[in-house]
Amino acid sequence: MHALPASPPEAVTPANLLDRSLDRLRAWRDRQIASPAFRRWAATFPLTRPLARRRARELFDIVAGFSYSQVLLACVRLQLFERLAQGPATVETLAPLFQLPPDACLRLLDAAVALRLLSRREQRGAAGRRVLYALGPLGAPMVGNTALTSMVEHHAVLYADLADPLALLRAPLGSAAMARYWAYARSDQPQALADTQVADYSALMAASQPLVADEILNAYPLAQHACLLDLGGGEAMFASAVAQRWPHLRLVVFDLPEVAKRASARLERLGLAHRASAVGGDFTRDALPLGADIISLVRVVHDHDDDRVMTLLRAARQALPAHGVLLLAEPMAGTAGAQRMGDAYFGMYLWAMGSGRPRRVADLAAMLKAAGFTQPSLLRNATPLQTQVLIARVASAG
Ligand SMILES: C[S@@+](CC[C@H](N)C(=O)[O-])C[C@H]1O[C@@H](n2cnc3c(N)ncnc32)[C@H](O)[C@@H]1O
Repeated sequence: MHALPASPPEAVTPANLLDRSLDRLRAWRDRQIASPAFRRWAATFPLTRPLARRRARELFDIVAGFSYSQVLLACVRLQLFERLAQGPATVETLAPLFQLPPDACLRLLDAAVALRLLSRREQRGAAGRRVLYALGPLGAPMVGNTALTSMVEHHAVLYADLADPLALLRAPLGSAAMARYWAYARSDQPQALADTQVADYSALMAASQPLVADEILNAYPLAQHACLLDLGGGEAMFASAVAQRWPHLRLVVFDLPEVAKRASARLERLGLAHRASAVGGDFTRDALPLGADIISLVRVVHDHDDDRVMTLLRAARQALPAHGVLLLAEPMAGTAGAQRMGDAYFGMYLWAMGSGRPRRVADLAAMLKAAGFTQPSLLRNATPLQTQVLIARVASAG
């Protein structure tokens, strides 16, 4: 253990007297919880038993989380959920199908039942009792869900970086495999990235975009807008969802040149080229296309450090007319009921990627104001875990 340097003495005020008393109380409580004898007592005393059990379960889930994730990965790789969507099956049917020894298959199926990915059913027939495996409440939503399965597969890169978390935290930013995957994250010349460097992350973003498009479009109707510019709009998945929902709207996607080419191709394929186009460039250096009365930044801001974000927000502010709207949507730190997602998941994810950070609503609102936007406000949406939606306005011409 490292000795902490002593803090300089503080002046005594009523406020810090209260703080000190609370600190002493918390330190006493923590000493109790750290004591095995207290924990043994708390686990059996009727009034503390429910809390003690819950805490033990929560801690165990953190200890075991990686195993749970890998059970899910195995199910995804076997396309087990899709198979069981056709009907329940026995281990005798599934094991040869998945080229697994029966015992190994059974081990996986039971693990997935415990995680509620699958459920187990017993059937009695003339030949006796048979055990069938079916979808569980957490496995059913995985069926055909490429948004989630592509994230699960992609975690192989993240978990390889996280295998030694201290090495990751001590290494220079940008030296992990995730930084190579997200090639723009540490690049000084992102506009020069080749197609091969953007292909994998662009495909992942396109596959996972359905997790957020409806959330955003249900939260913010675009009826009163004429033209949307989607900055960092990837392969135009969000723009296509907007185009489908709002047929009057013109759309422009701005992204790195090789990604913009992919976006153009998609817009062409979908027959949207008459009202939607894609422009390539670096949104922190190049002039942004003019003419939009709303600019969206979907899952973009968290990727970048504060100075880049401020450059981007100021550029967006300049590109909007008076009363134009900026819509910023991404998973945010401190989301009520989903705190782990922000600081524990995205915090480590973006560290491995080598740039950006998960931000709280208040951080983003302050940055929007500093960039010249007014009235930043958080909209209500159905699943804040997946994204939250902030809008802000331009008060006068930029
Ligand atoms: C995390 S992805 C999000 C894509 C899309 N908005 C979505 O939600 O699916 C971030 C996008 O920003 C783009 N991007 C990153 N840096 C950029 C830059 N300097 N100029 C333009 N686009 C950039 C990336 O190419 C990528 O498509």
